[in-house]
Amino acid sequence: MAAELTIRPARDHDLDAIHTLEVDAFPAPWRRDFFDSELRASGRLNLVAIRNRCVVGYVFTMWIFDEMHVNKIAVSRSERRRGVADALMDACFAFARDHGITTISLEVRESNREARDFYSHLDFEASYLRPRYYPDGEAAVVMTRRV
Ligand SMILES: CC(C)(COP(=O)(O)OP(=O)(O)OC[C@H]1O[C@@H](n2cnc3c(N)ncnc32)[C@H](O)[C@@H]1OP(=O)(O)O)[C@@H](O)C(=O)NCCC(=O)NCCS
Repeated sequence: MAAELTIRPARDHDLDAIHTLEVDAFPAPWRRDFFDSELRASGRLNLVAIRNRCVVGYVFTMWIFDEMHVNKIAVSRSERRRGVADALMDACFAFARDHGITTISLEVRESNREARDFYSHLDFEASYLRPRYYPDGEAAVVMTRRV
């Protein structure tokens, strides 16, 4: 039987593990100090998913008034398609409901079919395109969901 999955706030001592996953998951990863400053910023919900005492996924979000924005979400390759990202986003939805947040938005690479399918499965809808959003010139699809 699979070990239990726990979702909890990200802390300083998670940063090395988060950054290792980040570098593996994204073509243009955030620097470690970016995550570090997000942990210290206000209006953030930053969570990790833990299995067997290891960080197997994370979500970094920012929120203000009634809007939340997903800055980052990733799951370790060996843990994908096991509901880890679903569990992270469920925790975001619960937080949003508790804090009067009505809309959640995010950007995703146009070519990132897996992530777009993941968000569609959570009822996010493609709203519009941001051309040349990423450093390599690729467009971002902005997706939004009502809470
Ligand atoms: C996108 C990502 C976070 C999904 O994480 P995950 O833990 O594997 O997702 P879940 O297991 O919770 O998936 C839930 C559902 O989303 C959909 N989904 C998830 N990954 C999918 C994929 N690769 N292809 C198609 N649908 C997918 C499915 O409906 C899935 O349910 P199912 O497995 O019962 O069919 C993960 O693939 C990842 O880390 N990718 C690299 C980083 C990235 O692109 N992040 C998003 C940037 S905007």
